[in-house]
Amino acid sequence: MLKGRHLVDPQDFSIQELESIFELTQEIINKPEDFNSICHGKILSTLFYEPSTRTRFSFEAAMLRLGGGVIGFSEPGSSSVAKGESLADTLRTVAAYADIIAMRHPNEGAPKHGIKYCPVPLINGGDGGHQHPTQTLTDLFTILESKGRLDNLTIGCCGDLKFGRTVHSLIKAMSRYENVKFILVSPKELQVPDYIRTEILEQRNIQFQEVERLEEVIDQMDILYMTRVQKERFFNEADYVRLKDSYIVDLKKLKDAKEDLAILHPLPRVNEIAIEVDEDPRAWYFRQVKNGMFVRMGLILKLLGVK
Ligand code: NCD
Repeated sequence: MLKGRHLVDPQDFSIQELESIFELTQEIINKPEDFNSICHGKILSTLFYEPSTRTRFSFEAAMLRLGGGVIGFSEPGSSSVAKGESLADTLRTVAAYADIIAMRHPNEGAPKHGIKYCPVPLINGGDGGHQHPTQTLTDLFTILESKGRLDNLTIGCCGDLKFGRTVHSLIKAMSRYENVKFILVSPKELQVPDYIRTEILEQRNIQFQEVERLEEVIDQMDILYMTRVQKERFFNEADYVRLKDSYIVDLKKLKDAKEDLAILHPLPRVNEIAIEVDEDPRAWYFRQVKNGMFVRMGLILKLLGVK
């Protein structure tokens, strides 16, 4: 039962629970008109303490397409946060008005702390450089759509694997499926955090390699998950400038890639994927964007227990 639950970490839901969300998502995609007033009278609140385009809009569009309403802020300075209100009090207050809350916060662990004070489902829309579980739902659904399976895959993750929360969540989620291998491509300075290597990959005996050059390994990949260098999490502008263009996927780099490679990117893209790749059948990132809204529709229905 997902009704009334929070979603803080990609492992909060079992594989079967994820499957039930994906099945519902597919039903929504097949017949959206059957769902367009199912959340009439329900309210979603979006509390975004950090910038966002896709995550916030897709949550809001999801609720509106289900016939519900939306309240929230995209700029905490315009709320009582600016007066010094604690996260706990903001959540208690908003939960008095809304049936479900999606929150993005710069502090790692903020949603884990927040659920203690939140009597309605709280969804983590990204907490600092830590986790981003609804992006992962989107990514898994898109992998399923492109490959027809979530097991027996070689997944390349490329770019900022240190600060990129979407990669941390993707690795956590995908490492629960059979025979999944990871190829982690990044500059030395931007490798995955130790806890991902030790607590997830090594502990679960997942095959993985860490390399610096994409060209050497691209031919092995079923999925290439590109990421942006996370400028806002760097302490030093010079390091950002040095590392920002480490990887740019263009048609030349894709020369040795499998014909059925699926290229994903949580977006926003800065420079990591050349525009010329957008027209290539291997580019799945705009499809992924659309899936993000439908998956969130499925998630909202499950957490609200609306049938
Ligand atoms: C990602 C994020 O916010 O972590 N964006 C998103 O939610 N689709 C990736 C990023 O900002 O690079």
